[in-house]
Amino acid sequence: NWNMKNFIEDQVELIRRQVGDKKVLLALSGGVDSSVVAAMLIKAIGQQLVCVHVNHGLMRKNESESVVEVFQNQLHANLIYVDATERFLGKLEGVADPEQKRKIIGGEFIRVFEEEARKLDGIHFLGQGTIYPDIIESGTKTAKMVKSHHNVGGLPEDLQFELVEPLKQLFKDEVRACGIELGLPASMVYRQPFPGPGLGVRCLGAITRDRLEAVRESDAILREEFEKAGLDKKVWQYFTVVPDFKSVGMKNHARCFEYMVIIRAINTIDAMTASIEKVDWDVLEKITNRILNEVENVNRVCYDMSPKPPATIEFE
Ligand code: XMP
Repeated sequence: NWNMKNFIEDQVELIRRQVGDKKVLLALSGGVDSSVVAAMLIKAIGQQLVCVHVNHGLMRKNESESVVEVFQNQLHANLIYVDATERFLGKLEGVADPEQKRKIIGGEFIRVFEEEARKLDGIHFLGQGTIYPDIIESGTKTAKMVKSHHNVGGLPEDLQFELVEPLKQLFKDEVRACGIELGLPASMVYRQPFPGPGLGVRCLGAITRDRLEAVRESDAILREEFEKAGLDKKVWQYFTVVPDFKSVGMKNHARCFEYMVIIRAINTIDAMTASIEKVDWDVLEKITNRILNEVENVNRVCYDMSPKPPATIEFE
């Protein structure tokens, strides 16, 4: 794409002029926007970019590993990987209220990032994956008003950096095209949206390790089977949740009392309203059988039939 090539060349030039020989810090979640900014900054300033990836322990299966693989091993970025799993799960222990969980995850995320930032010398800039809709949406009514979202903002006074925001003129589809042009894998660029609090809001109520593992494993199976069925390119967002209650079942001729997995698959234009995907029965049956056979502590699988409204896309 000739236009996108030009855009990238212009931005590379602008970034180099803005940054000079100074350093840029970037919170790299592995989401589309932060990944594309990272790729752009690597192209422009290479080792002057310092990426920090915080694994809050609520990432999907192999997600943090793929951030390390792509950015550290393939693009040779200067990447600091922080495994903060124990810290996050510790803070979240016993916390059942969804907004409280979001607050803890968002707050802790900033604190971990801040601690890493303080260890580094000579950082003058903060890279951010701000895109055009983020700018026009601020102040208007969006899904963000129903549930608090988290981003890296809110750093303390002495850690205020000048911002580098090379994507702020782009719409989401242009961000993706930019990522592909920069050589990022399609699987990273065409990812479905994933909430900042991650699997934390899909392990319903107070998070426990067994249910978190059940959400992670069932989500991986769902994504694998949707990909095989070609649904990954058709459906806007799909995931599993695990509620915090058990139901009775039978395993190996004995009564069991275990969790259930709920599958949700929706389509939407702007996330303000959503309709369910009418997933083929055979595909659902295959996913169900795999979850029941492969995921521990689960004896039941359900499909969420609810549109938004009245349900929201996520359960929390
Ligand atoms: P709801 O559940 O409000 O979700 O219908 C609308 C869209 O927003 C995503 N979502 C979030 N994204 N932080 C995020 O970055 C959050 O706390 C959050 N909560 C919901 C959700 O996945 C859906 O795409």
